[in-house]
Amino acid sequence: SRFTQILGTGSALPAKVVTNQDLERQVDTSDTWIRERTGIRQRHIAADDETCVDLAERAAQAALAAAGVSAAELDLIVVATTTPDQTFPSSACLLQERLDSHGCPAFDIQAVCTGFIYALAVAEKFIRTGSAERALVVGAETLSRIIDWTDRGTSVLFGDGAGAVVIGAADEPGIISTHLHADGAYRELLQVPAGIGNGGNGSPYMQMKGNEVFRVAVTTLGAIVDETLAANNMTRADIDWLVPHQANLRIIKATARKLDLAMEQVVVTVGEHGNTSAASIPLAFDQAVRDGRIQRGQIVLMEAFGGGFTWGSALLRY
Ligand code: ACO
Repeated sequence: SRFTQILGTGSALPAKVVTNQDLERQVDTSDTWIRERTGIRQRHIAADDETCVDLAERAAQAALAAAGVSAAELDLIVVATTTPDQTFPSSACLLQERLDSHGCPAFDIQAVCTGFIYALAVAEKFIRTGSAERALVVGAETLSRIIDWTDRGTSVLFGDGAGAVVIGAADEPGIISTHLHADGAYRELLQVPAGIGNGGNGSPYMQMKGNEVFRVAVTTLGAIVDETLAANNMTRADIDWLVPHQANLRIIKATARKLDLAMEQVVVTVGEHGNTSAASIPLAFDQAVRDGRIQRGQIVLMEAFGGGFTWGSALLRY
């Protein structure tokens, strides 16, 4: 049968770094509070003229180069983003034009912080069913543009960035399984109220009930880990690497404890990147592939939780 393998990875961060000390000068917060509650020390923030698709393009070019695949060989482009450059065309179409790729399907997926897992799951099904041979999957965000920078409850948590993978058909896995979930009943715990369809009604900035999100995230991520292992008759000992969504170091540590993994087996970027939403997993994955931590043949578990709520996982042999 037919499977899907990750052929190459790439990522991009804005050059501008905002430290906790910088934020101390803007809102009533402290470096100590931010580090102790979240593990975040700094975040990268897009320049005024730097867009989400700019970051997506840099990450995509790096992933294509690493995979040895040209843009002309792509037959699917999926971009996970909550912060598209325009209402339309989709970020995937804007990226397609930048890459000089023509004719293949291109679309965006919106699942906030779980966006990359959703996009990978969808693209993987295109390949496994024979609808595509090679796909580009990107998570790209400029969350800084939907943050109220006077709100200390949210402004200290988020950053901008992009990560990408090129995936292709293979004779063996590759991607072993993906698991997706959502429950819109939780919509009010984490949201940007204003949108196009509701006539811009409500705040255009992120609203979050942080401690309630935290509680549900820890429980739900524990459950998705169990679901993923059970679906594949695997135990915790089979996992070489955890590449979690990077929202909060305390949430990451709780999931690592659940898996009985030493923190050395967990890829952690939240300290340097903050929460980059759909970009955080492919950014962390690319970093650990490029620095040689994640090796070919190893078993990697990715998991994410975000607005919606949405949550999901991907289990793969790299
Ligand atoms: N600096 C200083 N104090 C702060 C700050 C800040 N930046 N933010 C909040 N506080 C205060 C609060 O006002 C509160 O003060 P009070 O006790 O006087 O009322 C106190 O700190 C404790 O607030 P809590 O919200 O209870 O703190 P908690 O330990 O829960 O940490 C945090 C807050 C970091 C937001 C945590 O709840 C969290 O990480 N939640 C998950 C958030 C998350 O992951 N969101 C993204 C999900 S992914 C996505 O889809 C975007």
